[in-house]
Parts: sequence; structure tokens; C-alpha cells
Amino acid sequence: MDVLGTAVQKKLVGELAFLQFVQDGKDHYALGQITEVELRNVWHEDPTIRSLIRQRGGVDQISERQDTHLGRMTLSAVFSENSEGKYAPSFLGTVPSTGTNIYLVRDQVLETLLEPFKEELFYLGRVYGSTPLLPTWFKHFGSGRGGAGEAYHLGIFGKSGSGKSVLAKLILFAYARHADMGAIVIDPQGEFARDLRSGAAGHEGLQLPVREIIEGLGRQAEVLGVSDLVLDRWDIFEEILFESQFFERLGMRRNNNRELACAEIVAHLKKKKVTLKSLPERASFDQAWALLHDEKALARIYNQKDRRAGLKDQVDSADRDAFFSEVWSPVAALFDESRSGARKVTWAIDAVLKEKKFLVLDLSGKDNEDLYWNARIQALTIQKVISDLKQRAEMAYEDDKSLNTLVLIDEAARLAPREKPDDAVEQRVRDQLIDAVRTTRKYGLGWLFISQTLASLHQEILNQMRIMFFGFGLSLGQEYDAVARLVGSRGPALDLYRLFRDPHSAFSVESREYSFMTVGPVSPLSFAGTPLFLSVFNSVDGFLAANPRLAGSGQTGSAALSEEQ
Ligand SMILES: Nc1ncnc2c1ncn2[C@@H]1O[C@H](COP(=O)(O)OP(=O)(O)OP(=O)(O)O)[C@@H](O)[C@H]1O
Ligand SMILES: [Mg+2]
Repeated sequence: MDVLGTAVQKKLVGELAFLQFVQDGKDHYALGQITEVELRNVWHEDPTIRSLIRQRGGVDQISERQDTHLGRMTLSAVFSENSEGKYAPSFLGTVPSTGTNIYLVRDQVLETLLEPFKEELFYLGRVYGSTPLLPTWFKHFGSGRGGAGEAYHLGIFGKSGSGKSVLAKLILFAYARHADMGAIVIDPQGEFARDLRSGAAGHEGLQLPVREIIEGLGRQAEVLGVSDLVLDRWDIFEEILFESQFFERLGMRRNNNRELACAEIVAHLKKKKVTLKSLPERASFDQAWALLHDEKALARIYNQKDRRAGLKDQVDSADRDAFFSEVWSPVAALFDESRSGARKVTWAIDAVLKEKKFLVLDLSGKDNEDLYWNARIQALTIQKVISDLKQRAEMAYEDDKSLNTLVLIDEAARLAPREKPDDAVEQRVRDQLIDAVRTTRKYGLGWLFISQTLASLHQEILNQMRIMFFGFGLSLGQEYDAVARLVGSRGPALDLYRLFRDPHSAFSVESREYSFMTVGPVSPLSFAGTPLFLSVFNSVDGFLAANPRLAGSGQTGSAALSEEQ
């Protein structure tokens, strides 16, 4: 498009614009974002004139006056107007004539066009570099009103500090509006849990009242930390025993013998009718300890005599009480059902799938002092959560109903890396996750992945994604290649993405901008599949004002609003 003289000094890049044209006798409106404005002055490219300019600095009749500005816009949506003045999605099946005017879009234009969808719209922010609110919609995964009829997976990518977690929370609110939708947040850092536990107080950055908003929408929010979760499988006990100090203190290294020893202990405990529940009892520990005096068992662990003798010496000289209290108890307690308030992972998952709760699983271990916890046990627990989720989903799905649940998972690239990890547990987490992502969609489970990188996230996960958000920091090297592949081109849209600034380069905290490029069916303005660009709200007030239904603070949206008026 050519930029008119009157508009030359306007900021155009990033603006949402529309044009009107007639197709099949109906008025049509095409909307899109201006991605680029290019200046040309053909006279200035002429060698003779250039040398003149070199001497004089400019030529009055040519410089500036003969400039032409060529803008590019990518059309993302087309609406047609019917005889009653209502608008419906359409497409561009003709070429608008030359001389067609292009106008900037303001909020009113969007309101009029999208009137029929008003109830469904949700606002995450404004059009990047402009003022109109960017309408988005987050349909639930079931059928019926406001539903997409199927689950889909989403991804949020960007460098550390680009605003991914904040955006994820806003999206969580969008889904919380659907009364029959549940959500489970697998939270390795305890970040989402912190917001729910403490309200918003006590940390810097955007102070989102997460609990108030979710509960204000009539949903039940709950956090389960490490100390609230009970593990309930022997294979996990065996793994954790392997990881724990137990054999370390007996001088047994992390090799096959230790694995054998763990298996021996578990087999022995089972034979003696010890249950997972009773692991914390002293008698259970004594049973395990007794095995280490059993010649036959030791022979199965070590076939060299001197190694056996060495282990026996260690066992004999060890302080048994200290072993019980310092090593055994913290591990066994993970399986103790009688801990107050403790729940099994399966219970937690059912609460989400059946009661449609909003549940945060805080697996950071920050809430816990008495239990044995580290990154590996976290990985084992995540693996357990994912496999249970898959299993329960299959079971709950029987009656042909969509489970209509969102699973949010942070640090996706750590859990499902592209390169095969060396470690067996990490491998299993990765395989489970990829398998779950592939299979659970048909049950109505949609996954929202957050990741700092694309290049090191497993390809299968990227392939499965329908809606993606790209924040600042992926415009170099491999990351950029990955973005280009997902967006489908390296055209002008990506040039606009490259203009994103690091939020932390802003002069003041208030002027920080958290921008994202989004692709996929996330907005009524993007049905052509072209990327859209937005700046996320940078104040809670702005966000709540645009989404009044969320501003209920404990009451329903409309009640709260009428009280204020
Ligand atoms: N839209 C926003 N408005 C105001 N502040 C924001 C916004 N988005 C993020 N922030 C602030 O910027 C900081 C980083 O944001 P956030 O935690 O969302 O980043 P992240 O991309 O999740 O980073 P990481 O990858 O390290 O988890 C936080 O202090 C947060 O409060
Ligand atoms: Mg984060």
C-alpha cells in the first residue's frame, strides 16, 4: 500500500488497519497489521542526482517531496456485512481496486465487527505498538456454547523475564471463565503456588490477585505442595531409596549393586507384608535392616566375598537409630498416608478431572522440611503425575465425554528435551510426557507448555501445538530458525517480531513492554493463520478494566460492577 502524504509522519508499523471493498455485491472489511513501511525516492537512486546531493546535501524539488512510502500489511481477517448490518467472517476472494483507502482500526471498529462474539472475547493486551485492545478467545475444550469441540495444545516461549509466566496466568483466567473446565498446573518452581498462597503480596513485578480472580469466577483453587502429596507406588520407593543417603552411608556406590540391593529390600519388605503405608514404622525399617544381615540376600547383591564382608562391616558398625531417623524416615514419610492433609496424586488428579478444580501442584519442595526431596524425586513425581493423568483420563473418558481440562507445565524443555537424556529417570519423564501429549488430546486434555527455548524442546511437542505465543528473545540463530519454521515464513511478520525490545531495557519499570507474537486460532482477527502482535497489559487495573467479568474480587463480575457504579 502507498502511504498518503497526510499519514507519512504517523507511526504506522504495528498498527491494525482495515480496508473496505465490495465482493459479490456485499460490503467487506479486511483487517490486518501493518508490518513494515519502506521509504523510496527513485530520483535519489539516480547516479547524477546522487552526486548532486552529495555536494549540496539535498535537492529541493526532489528530496522529501518525491519520497514515496510503501507500507506492507498482512491481512488476517475478513468480514462481510449482511443486509441487517451484521458482520460475519468471510474471505478475500478478489483484489480490492487501486485507490482503496486504508484506515486505522480503533476500538469502536472492533466492537462493531465483533458484536456477536462479545461474550466470548478476552483481552490479554493491546495491539503491539498501538492502542486498540486485541480481542482473543480461549474456548473450552468441550462442545456446546463457547467450546472449541476439541482440546488443543498451546505454547508460550521467550527468554527468561519476557513475561511468559504472567501471560500464562492471564490465559489461565481466560479458561477459568468456563465453569465446566478444570486445570492442573505442574509447577516445578513453586511460582504459581506462591501467587495462590500469598495472594499477590510479598514479591515484585505484576501483582496479580490470582486467587481472588479464580475464586471470583466461582472456581475452586487449591495448592498441593510436596508435604501434601503422598506417593503410592513401590517402584517409586525403590527409586527414591536408590537416590537417598541409605546406601551412600554404607559405602555402596551408585552402580548395579546398589540397584540390586534396592530391589532386594523392596522384595523382602513385600514378602514380609510391609505396606507402603506402614513404611514409616520402625518395624518396617527393622525388616529392611535385617535383610542386610541375611547371607543369601547379600550373596545376590555381591558375589565377591570381600565386598560382602565389607558391606557387613559397614552395617554392623552403623548407628541404627540414626539411620532410622535421619535416612529412612524422611523417605518413608513421602508414602505416609496419615500425614495431616496429605493426598494421593490420583486423588488430586480426580479432583481436577471430575470436580473441575483449579489445582497447582507445587513440586519445588519449598514448603517442606521433613521430607526427602531433590530434583530427582521431583522428576519421579512429575513422571507419576503424568502417567496417572494419562491413565485417569483414559478411565474417566469412558462415557464419551470430553474431560475439558487444561494441563499447564512450566520448564517444558527441561522435561521434554530434544536430545535424549542420559539419565534413565529423565528419559522416562520425557517419553511419558510426549506420549501423554500425543494421546490425551482426544480425551479433552489440552496442554499449555511454557519454555525458554524452542530449539531444545522436543520436536513432537512443537508439532502438536495449535496456538503459540513468542515473546522477546528468540530472534537469533537456532531459536529464530525454529520460530520461522513454526510461523511458516520469514516474511515481514517476522521482521516485526524482531523489533520486540527486551522488557528490561525500558527506562522505567512502568514503561516496560511485554510483547508477544501469536499464531493459531486464538483471535477472531487471525483466521487466515497470520501472526498477530500484542503487548500484554502491564497493570492489573488495565487488565481488569478490559475484562470486567474478572474484576469480581470474590463476587460475581456483574455484582461487583454494579456496586461500584
Ligand atoms: N505484562 C506484564 N506487566 C508487568 N510486569 C510484568 C508483565 N509480565 C511480566 N512482568 C514482570 O516481569 C518479570 C518476569 O516475568 P515472568 O516471570 O512472567 O517471566 P518469565 O518469562 O516467566 O521468566 P522465566 O523464564 O525466568 O520464568 C516479573 O517480575 C513479572 O512480574
Ligand atoms: Mg516463568
